[in-house]
Amino acid sequence: MSAPETLPYPIHPSILAFDFSIISEQMRALDVAGADAFHFDVMDDHFVPNLTFGPMVLRTLRSVTARAFHAHLMAYHPDAYIPRMAEAGVQRLYAHPEATPHINRTLGYIRDAGMEAGVSINPGTPVEALEPLLEMVDAVLMMSVNPGFGGQAFLPITYRRLGQLRALMARLGVSPAVVVDGGVDGGNIAALAQAGMTEAVIGTALFTDGDPAATMRAIAGAAWGG
Ligand code: DX5
Ligand code: ZN
Repeated sequence: MSAPETLPYPIHPSILAFDFSIISEQMRALDVAGADAFHFDVMDDHFVPNLTFGPMVLRTLRSVTARAFHAHLMAYHPDAYIPRMAEAGVQRLYAHPEATPHINRTLGYIRDAGMEAGVSINPGTPVEALEPLLEMVDAVLMMSVNPGFGGQAFLPITYRRLGQLRALMARLGVSPAVVVDGGVDGGNIAALAQAGMTEAVIGTALFTDGDPAATMRAIAGAAWGG
């Protein structure tokens, strides 16, 4: 694995939007361009109506880049995936409270397995549901679409929800990463960063003009300069 050549942008390209026939080439290009992590959407066809890939595929791709792997688990029974995700080389694992009655236990298991714990909430879940969890997570993944598919339209209610999350974080005195996932593009990223997003998952918008590396830099520049 080679050392990154560019200072990382807080942009996490979503593998769901990649061309799976040339996935490692596209990953390398975005690595060199400065993506600081890759986002893997693991779907079980039950929690969300789509089926993607699991730890075996992540492990296969682990040697392509030294950048972090973040897995977004859209699956019931999240605990069952934790050891396999750690073995696959995942640095951060997001689980949904809507997918398990025991999210507190799940987040503890993720940290016990040596990964960063992330909690992801659907657009219809009140932000207040995060209140008992914020002190035990490294990141919040705020869904700005209903999960299951790439390429969906961004939900503007996300701005209000980011405000609620920032207020909750201030009240508790904690500062997990605030990551937004779904429909993020060059048109909304600056406003999202202004509203408190610190990291962005981007899929479809990277692949609109045939040069994902340049597109990523342009989108990142709109929010964070550079
Ligand atoms: C949706 C996924 C997202 C998705 C984002 O269920 O969680 O990570 O791949 O892709 P875009 O940017 O296309 O909305
Ligand atoms: Zn995702």
